[in-house]
Amino acid sequence: EAIKVFCPATIANVSCGFDVLGLALENVGDEMIVRKSSNKGISITKILGQDLPLEPSKNVAGVAALALLEKSDYSGGFEIEIHKKIKPGSGIGSSAASSAGVVWAINELLGKPFSELELVEFAMQGEKLASNVAHADNVAPAIYGGFTLVRSYEPLDVVPLPTPSELYATIIHPQIEVKTSDSRKVLKTKITLAQGIQQWGNLGGLIAGLFQSDYPLIGRSLQDHIIEPIRSILIPGYDEIKSESMKAGALGCGISGSGPSIFALSQGFEIAKKVADSMKATYEHFDIDFDVHVSSIG
Ligand code: HSE
Repeated sequence: EAIKVFCPATIANVSCGFDVLGLALENVGDEMIVRKSSNKGISITKILGQDLPLEPSKNVAGVAALALLEKSDYSGGFEIEIHKKIKPGSGIGSSAASSAGVVWAINELLGKPFSELELVEFAMQGEKLASNVAHADNVAPAIYGGFTLVRSYEPLDVVPLPTPSELYATIIHPQIEVKTSDSRKVLKTKITLAQGIQQWGNLGGLIAGLFQSDYPLIGRSLQDHIIEPIRSILIPGYDEIKSESMKAGALGCGISGSGPSIFALSQGFEIAKKVADSMKATYEHFDIDFDVHVSSIG
């Protein structure tokens, strides 16, 4: 018995929601085949597209799958084959795609004994291996789909949010690697009350905008005065990409997760495509390879 799953790329933080907000992309992601096996435990048989460890305890998918097996009464095991299309260190949730995809697939093969929230908890163990911190803002949207809010980490509380039908994401991935662990180290651990007020105003505004399909409100709320000024220094051409995307009509633009990918959200596929063209034209002046994607959210 086997299942083939699409493991979506995700945009974490979405500007004003550091470590709590994320969204899943419908058209960018990996593929994974998971098979039931009579051999106990987890075996990663093949990884195509990237050179990643096959040993389950060193692989994010392996660690997430083992966390699930530990809570399950199933006595057999699983074989995993991963077709990696999302590059590690890209900022669009490469490790989360594998961690979330594998636990989702295993849960299906076992007849869905676990809730989505429990799957997020297992997948977070993969994130912990990847970046030392078990953040959930990539794995939660990968499992639930669409936008999700991690209202609380202890206890874990994930709130699925609606996605306005005309919202599209454009992503540019400059091919430099920024490790999440490094881009977390540069952050300050304290913020001022004034910064808090700005950030929770924007986060509330963005969530209200999603519920009401209020695109201008979504646009006004896509701001981050805390993390972006620090991390954007690590991304060549960040300011140019952002200002050109806004000129091309994007509602907002920010760092995807811990970078280096940069995302923009737009109302309508046509504008999202124009934003993609402006990102390409801007980045052609830099001596760095890149890819650009336009995707619906879901
Ligand atoms: N919220 C995490 C961070 C996501 O920004 O560090 C990492 O992809």
